[in-house]
Amino acid sequence: MPINLTINGSRKSVDVEGDTPLLWVLRDKLDMVGTKFGCGVGQCGACTVHIDGQPVRACLTPVESVGEAKITTIEGIGSAAVGKKLQQAWIEHDVPQCGYCQAGQIMSAAALLATTPKPTDDDIDAAMNGNLCRCATYLRIKAAIKQAAGV
Ligand code: FES
Ligand code: FES
Repeated sequence: MPINLTINGSRKSVDVEGDTPLLWVLRDKLDMVGTKFGCGVGQCGACTVHIDGQPVRACLTPVESVGEAKITTIEGIGSAAVGKKLQQAWIEHDVPQCGYCQAGQIMSAAALLATTPKPTDDDIDAAMNGNLCRCATYLRIKAAIKQAAGV
């Protein structure tokens, strides 16, 4: 059935079953492949997007549950000041190794800084806890978040 979505400020219409995970709509229907499939069961964070600013796992989000809420993906996060700072810090700290997890990492970091502009180490650990990195770039991720936050 046709479902209307607002993604990165643009209206999109997709013809899918309502219980289709948002992740597959983004990747397969809209060709927005920045959001990654990792585990498919909410355990790795690779598929993290924002819905009305909240970080959610797109693999566990039925597309029909989004409604009129605003979706932000890694393709759009650089339009926000926080997202832009994070992307710059990611480059300066040379964070990615294979890069697979990094879109999800940046989305979780952006959600953290939007609500907690000056996070403590514990804040960062708590916010980033659900984003796994098989290349173990955790120290660089933390350093980049701190730089972006100016702490
Ligand atoms: S793919 Fe969604 S949490 Fe792993
Ligand atoms: S950079 Fe390879 S999984 Fe994180």
